[in-house]
Amino acid sequence: MKFWKLSSYVLAALVSAAAASGPSDGDAIADPNSAVVKLTAADYQSFIDSNPLVLAEFFAPWCGYCKQLAPEFTKAANSLNETNPNIKLAQVDCTVEEELCMQHEIRGYPTLKVIRGSENKPDDYDGPREASGIVDYMVAQSKPAVQTIESADAAVAAIADLKKPAVIQILPADYKEGKQKENSTYFDVASARRKELTFLTIQDSDAVKALQDKFKSLKASKSPVYIAIQPGADDVVPLAEKFSKDALEKFITTEKVPYFGEINRETYLAYMTSPIPLAYYFYNSPDQKEALEKTFNDLGKKYRGKLNFVGLDATLFGRHAEILSMDPETIPLFAIQDVEANKKYGLDQKKNPNPSAKAITKFVEDFVAGKLSPIIKSQPLPTEEEVAAQPVVKLVAHNYESIVKDTSKDVFVKYYAEWCGHCKQLAPTWDELASIYDSNKPDANVVIAKLEHPENDVDVPVPIEGYPTILLYPANGEIDEKTGLRVPVTFNGARNLEALIDFVKENGGHKVDGHALKEAKGGVVEDEDDEVVEEKKEEQEEKDVDHDEL
Ligand SMILES: *[C@@H]1O[C@H](CO)[C@@H](O)[C@H](O)[C@H]1NC(C)=O
Ligand SMILES: *[C@@H]1O[C@H](CO)[C@@H](O)[C@H](O)[C@H]1NC(C)=O
Repeated sequence: MKFWKLSSYVLAALVSAAAASGPSDGDAIADPNSAVVKLTAADYQSFIDSNPLVLAEFFAPWCGYCKQLAPEFTKAANSLNETNPNIKLAQVDCTVEEELCMQHEIRGYPTLKVIRGSENKPDDYDGPREASGIVDYMVAQSKPAVQTIESADAAVAAIADLKKPAVIQILPADYKEGKQKENSTYFDVASARRKELTFLTIQDSDAVKALQDKFKSLKASKSPVYIAIQPGADDVVPLAEKFSKDALEKFITTEKVPYFGEINRETYLAYMTSPIPLAYYFYNSPDQKEALEKTFNDLGKKYRGKLNFVGLDATLFGRHAEILSMDPETIPLFAIQDVEANKKYGLDQKKNPNPSAKAITKFVEDFVAGKLSPIIKSQPLPTEEEVAAQPVVKLVAHNYESIVKDTSKDVFVKYYAEWCGHCKQLAPTWDELASIYDSNKPDANVVIAKLEHPENDVDVPVPIEGYPTILLYPANGEIDEKTGLRVPVTFNGARNLEALIDFVKENGGHKVDGHALKEAKGGVVEDEDDEVVEEKKEEQEEKDVDHDEL
């Protein structure tokens, strides 16, 4: 879950950088006389059930990128209607069909999904956004996931035409499906992962012979053989493990990317869904990339299955450096991102303004040996004056652990982002709450704290899926094994003083009664009419159901 959040975050940066040309002004709704089908909640189900392959665009009429897409989408629909009438293009207007769009978890416009009947989970469309690209992509989607090769010529042509890495099943002439169900397993896996690679199956003995002539690693065998091949490569990689569904899946995940690839809109998915760390070389010109091509190919081969290596064109996607906590102005740069562990490692840009093959190789060796420290992004520590002046304790990556790991205190943390409207609304209440507990004083039992989350790399025991996320680490609470922090209690109530005070009293280890403290300080809660407080609370509750999404 966390992983997907992160990858969509990365993707957002890549795509927003790529879409720099900006939206246009036309109509987002396709011409009603075109072949684009307008879907509503009433006819959605029957349409999906009666059409085997649908590309659905979930859109809003006001959205600029939807307007930009509309003419291309229409052109593609009309063209497919002529050549491949089984492939349908449809539109769902999310300002009208809110329910339908919610079911599909639509978070941005336009969102395009490839839908194969209602029994299969819709797939995200990650293809081009101009007419001929959409047509090609959808025609490829309509073909069987596994291509059967039946002659030597077809085998040679298929290898020569590869645009993506391929996995090939080679069956002996007398193959019979046994207990292992190798063939049907292969077809099932191919069907699920057709977007990632090209899948071929070969049983014809001439075709097998043609491949054996071409690739020296390919040996004759009496049982099924599985190999992977990169476009243009002069040899193949055999599946070394004993065949099983898991072994095949792992093989695909490793072999779907080249030793040194390129990350861009077409390939990001392959890299982001790979569980292994990704090493980036950011370059500004093809020459810069070419100069290190051999180094990276060698490193890619050596560390296959441990690290993926990619080039990134910084003139297009340079902003991605910020996500790696690197300076986008100093290119070329080299950095490693461990997406699963949420850690980043960068080759020092001041010492290596133009990283050499030697420096990169050493850095990679140190990474694999576990000798590198990750980059920790942090805002500066607050000064003593700032601490004294602010009732709310300001957390940054550098003081986070010392404060949040102090198990003698109830630590109540607001994780926020600078741009988040709901967070701004809450700020005065959060200040008031902090004043009640004298939270910035050394002897406070309750610490009211805030952390600007995107600016500080910190561990959080629960996934942060929106801002603000408000967590209470109770004094003497149970310890979360992975982070060493306490297991937090998430605050999901109405974001008003009453509810926050109640929450600290109920869930904190010290059970501090903030109402009493407030009264002692001359608070005014009791002066307010109870009914009015209730009403306000309800109002606030309605207003606050939503977080700002990441
Ligand atoms: C779709 O194709 C059919 C058959 O060629 C044609 O009759 C129909 O007018 C086309 N529809 C659109 C909207 O182009
Ligand atoms: C392998 O499975 C596919 C899909 O079920 C089937 O079409 C094909 O005939 C099978 N091949 C062999 C050799 O059993």
